[in-house]
Amino acid sequence: MSTEELVKEIGKLRKEKKAVILAHNYQRPEVQDIADYVGDSIELARRAMDEKEAKILVVAAVDFMAENAFLLNPTKKILIPSLYAHCPMARMLSLDDIRRYRKKYLRIPLVLYVNTFAEAKASCEVCCTSANAVKIVERVEGDTIIFGPDCNLAEYVQEKTKKKIIPIPEHGFCPTHSVFDIESIRLLKEQYPDAPVLVHPECSREVRHSANFVGSTSQIIRYAQEAKAKRYIIGTEEGILHRLRKDNPNKEFILASVLGICPNMKMNTLENIYKSLRDEVYPVTVPKGIATRARRALERMVELS
Ligand code: 13P
Ligand code: SF4
Repeated sequence: MSTEELVKEIGKLRKEKKAVILAHNYQRPEVQDIADYVGDSIELARRAMDEKEAKILVVAAVDFMAENAFLLNPTKKILIPSLYAHCPMARMLSLDDIRRYRKKYLRIPLVLYVNTFAEAKASCEVCCTSANAVKIVERVEGDTIIFGPDCNLAEYVQEKTKKKIIPIPEHGFCPTHSVFDIESIRLLKEQYPDAPVLVHPECSREVRHSANFVGSTSQIIRYAQEAKAKRYIIGTEEGILHRLRKDNPNKEFILASVLGICPNMKMNTLENIYKSLRDEVYPVTVPKGIATRARRALERMVELS
């Protein structure tokens, strides 16, 4: 099928089946363009939670984001178009690891980044996203917090709070954000001295410290919309450029590394979104006992933020 035919068929099926397509800011341009809603992880979670009319939610993102949608709206059918859309960072913290750290740091609250699986979420006090991590940590009781799995986000939170942050595991990271390096940013700043540097907190300390703004994907989009500069250097996954360029046709956006691509986010295509709607694949669910506790951690995040 041609792109036009796929777009048409997706539109038909979406209507017939009362489906809503939620897409993350890192999705391919053509996927963002057919989505009903495009956002960062907290926005997608909120949108999934508030969705009343739809029968099906197709989550064009990675596995843990689809799980979040199920946890926050378990009466809907949640579909992920590709079974290969994994977040490697979520795999860096297992339940066994958590049990081990819990034993080591008795009675210290555990805050988990949403980039984790439901069974990990089920064992934490509260979740957070990159948009609200500092606020959540500030609002959790206690002077010391265990935080995982991203050690860069943990360190970013540590820089913004007086509480002591213990990162678990010690070196959890996002492979996509690890490609942004300070040397390339220094060269770009030399070339474009008027361009503010906007980066995600999953970037390394050096990269964050070289930036004018650090925030979630949607916070970066809002910053670029409101700022006056004509040109920006972007330190996060390249899918964000589509939205930035669409919203700001008179501004220029330069990706700080051509390698800044999350292959997992790119697993969703128009083709498999069409198949997902047609065959109602692949359903995402979470076993009941885990879901109840994981949902509590996500709901607490929404309340606290
Ligand atoms: P955001 O919540 O900023 O969209 O980030 C999600 C993510 O996976 C970043 O790599
Ligand atoms: Fe996971 Fe990194 Fe991809 Fe985000 S960009 S989904 S953290 S691998």
